[in-house]
Order: sequence, then structure tokens, then C-alpha cells
Amino acid sequence: GIVVVAPAVGFAGWVWVDSGRSNTGTLAFRNRLRIPPLLDATTDADGRRRFRLELRTGSTEFLPGTRTATWGANGSYLGPTLRARRGDRVAVDVTNRLPETTSIHWHGMHLPARMDGGPHQPIARDATWQPYWTVDQPAATLWYHPHLHQVTAPHVYRGVAGMFLVDDPATDDLPLPKRYGVDDVPLIVQDKKIADDGTLDESKMTFGGLTVTGLLGDKILVNGTYDPRFEVTTELVRLRLLNASNARIYHVGFADDREFALIAMDAGLLGAPERVGRLPLSPGERAEIVVRFAPGDDVVLKSFPPPLRANVAYERLAGGDDEHDLVKFVAVDPLRPSPALPAVLTSTPAPPPTTGEEFRLTMGDFTFNGRTMEMDRLDRVVGAGTVERWDVVNGQSIPHNFHVHGASFHVLDVDGGAPPAHLRGVKDTVYVAPGSTVGLAVSFLPHSDPRSPYMFHCHLLAHEDSGMMGQFVTVSDADRPLVRGDRLPLTHA
Ligand code: C2O
Ligand code: CU
Ligand code: CU
Repeated sequence: GIVVVAPAVGFAGWVWVDSGRSNTGTLAFRNRLRIPPLLDATTDADGRRRFRLELRTGSTEFLPGTRTATWGANGSYLGPTLRARRGDRVAVDVTNRLPETTSIHWHGMHLPARMDGGPHQPIARDATWQPYWTVDQPAATLWYHPHLHQVTAPHVYRGVAGMFLVDDPATDDLPLPKRYGVDDVPLIVQDKKIADDGTLDESKMTFGGLTVTGLLGDKILVNGTYDPRFEVTTELVRLRLLNASNARIYHVGFADDREFALIAMDAGLLGAPERVGRLPLSPGERAEIVVRFAPGDDVVLKSFPPPLRANVAYERLAGGDDEHDLVKFVAVDPLRPSPALPAVLTSTPAPPPTTGEEFRLTMGDFTFNGRTMEMDRLDRVVGAGTVERWDVVNGQSIPHNFHVHGASFHVLDVDGGAPPAHLRGVKDTVYVAPGSTVGLAVSFLPHSDPRSPYMFHCHLLAHEDSGMMGQFVTVSDADRPLVRGDRLPLTHA
């Protein structure tokens, strides 16, 4: 339905939000949850593990009897799961068979900026882009998606996205559920608006239409499956949740309020499992949870309205107060026994001491510190391998979040207080509620390149496309003199 909400700061007049409200109770869980296939790699002449992605147009049956024109990688909608181990030398051939230029960004991957797949690495129609790097980071659930400036929202919405799982020998032996698609299950959560004729409705994709957050759909897809159910065959199931929606914020939990163990956030495992009952996820964020099932269980994973607090009226703007069924879990009887969860997951350190400068970023009307994204402007120079304190201030009454490339971060504080349990892990994307300030310890990668920038931006894709993005380079002391003023001596790799 249509609801009227209070005017947002900086916007004239009333804002109309076309909100999906609630689909709870309307699903029959008719469709078996699709599991994105694991992509095989070949070993190339240089000894690299080489993956191939072909971006294509296609048509997908989300709703029974209705075809929807979609985009995907190696298929009609979404893409396969890539998987690599710490220490692997990998390469990807990304061929663009879409009707327009795009890019593929490795969200959360620690790699040199010219391999990052952001706005400076466009892939023209029928061209193949060939990034390569050495995987060197802790085990984590990462993902890939287009990132061309001003068209990220439609390209992701049409279906180009997939997971990239990193394994690490240091944590391989943990007794965690690890059979892909059986008890280690990716859940890519997205909301869509699908018209009666099956077309994806893109009408509020970009800011400038009627909403301040961009598109909110009323149909939830999980791994591209509408109305999904998953058959549980083991006592413990690990779910790798990814919010790959354009704007919607989810508060994930089970219909029977059972608790579950949070074991990892965006950039890797927590020090120890944390018991939680609800988990907020803003666009781009990931979480790994382990859920215990009893034989015969029949329970729905949902998105709930958030707990009441001052910001709830504003969070509604990103769909955060809607209620949605995501996927139903149906457990067989008997279940295969699972080993107990380990009490300690990793010796992930507390936030590292800061070794660099401090940076304050104030979010405005699709700006950071009053500026919108410019491709040849540099917004920050950081020392390669340093840790800076970044304070991200949302002075607005609309929701935003914040993602940094080429780095991982710890949340030091939220409005001066200790972060909640779900923000205590290592992250690369964080929700920044209206009126709040999030303090981060950002650990930058050691790669020095004064010519290729990394991005920071709001991951509400309409905001990002509207210019709520900035650029930084990481440089060694020797490279610092090469950076003059805020103009980039760009080489488009
Ligand atoms: Cu997931 Cu800069 O993006
Ligand atoms: Cu990213
Ligand atoms: Cu935003």
C-alpha cells in the first residue's frame, strides 16, 4: 500500500513511499530453494586457478507460468558461487554479453585497486576483463556484483550478483557445518517488484522518482527462488546470509523466535559464537549463522519489524518495518547428527590500534562532506597498511549505510557507546541510522597504487548511483609525492 511519512531533511514536501508492507502468511513455500552451483576452476599456464563468468541476458520463471526478463552470470539470473582458499592465486575471465557496459566488483575481497572491478574497470559489450590476484584474507562470505558509476542499481536489480567464498587453512578444521548446499547454505536475499506481465518493475530504481531510498519490492527472492522451502537433513545448518537488495533492510529471525548462533560477519569469523534471536542486515552486509533443528521442525525464516526505537519511523523508508517470509525450513526425521559448535572460532583480535590519521565523513543529500562522486577526484589519501579512525555521521533523517573497498573494519562505537553484538565482528559494510555516528577502525590493505582508487559509498544503490560515493588511494611514503591535489592521474585499467 501507499503510506505517507514525515518529510526527510533536505527534501521538499512529503515523501511517498510505496512500501511492500507484509507478505507474511501469503506464501505456500512451494518451490525448492535453488542453490547457486559452485563454479569449477581450471589451472592456467601460470598456475592460477582460473574462473570464467559470462554475463548474459535471459528469462527466468520466478512466478509460476510467468517469464521475467533477467540478467545473470553463466545463467539467466544470479551467478555461480566462486570459492578459493587463502594463498590461492586466482584469475577470472569476465565476459560481458549484456547489451551495455558494466563491471564486476569483488565486494569484500582484499586485492589491488585495479583488480577491484569498480567504476574504473568498465567491461565493454563483448569484451573480457581478466583480473588476477592472490587470495590473502581470513575465511569469509564475499560477493560479486556490477559497480559501474550511475548504473549499479539496475544492473544488480536485473540479476547480476553471486557469492565468492574464501576458505582459510587456519580455520578449516573447525567443526562447523561445511557441506555446501546441504548444511552450509547460501541465502541471497533480494526484494523485487514484478508486474503482472512478468517484467521487473524498475520505476523507482533511482532517486529522483518518488522515494528517498530507491526501489522497495513486495516479492522476496532467495537465491532467485520465489516462495522457497529448504529440506533440513542435519541437526545444525549454517546459513550464509547476504542482503543483495537495492535498498531494503531486513531484521532476520525465525517465526518461533528460536535463537541461533552468529558465527561470522562480512569479513570473517567472530572470536566466539554469539547467541541472538534477530539480526539486522542492510544492503551489502553478510552474516553467517548456525541454527539447530529438531526432527520434524517446520519453521519460517522471516524479516521482522525492528524493535521500537527513535529511528523506527525513518527506518521504514528502507522497508525495515515490513514483515516478510523469506524461506521455510522443513526438517526430516531423523536428522544426521552434527558436531557441537566450537566455543572459540578464531583468535580475531580486538580492533587494532590506529596508526594513521582520523577522517570524519558527514553524509548529506547524496554527498559525503558536501561532495558528490567525481571520477577524477580523490577524496582521501591513506597510508598503505595503516589503520585510520573514520567517523561516519548520518546527519539526515533517512537511512544510509557505509561500505569501504580495499579494507576491513571494526566498529569502535555507535553514538559513543559500545556496538551491539552483531557489530562486533570484522566488517566492510555497516548500517548508519538516521542521526547517528558510527566510529570505525579501518585497516587498509598494503597495496600501494597512487593511480587506482578504491571507493567508499552508501550501499543503498540509488544513493550510490546518485553520487553518494568517494574515492581514496592507498600509497606508501615513497608514492605520496606522486599524488598532487585531489585530481587523479588516472589510468583506466
Ligand atoms: Cu558491494 Cu562498492 O560495493
Ligand atoms: Cu565493495
Ligand atoms: Cu544512503
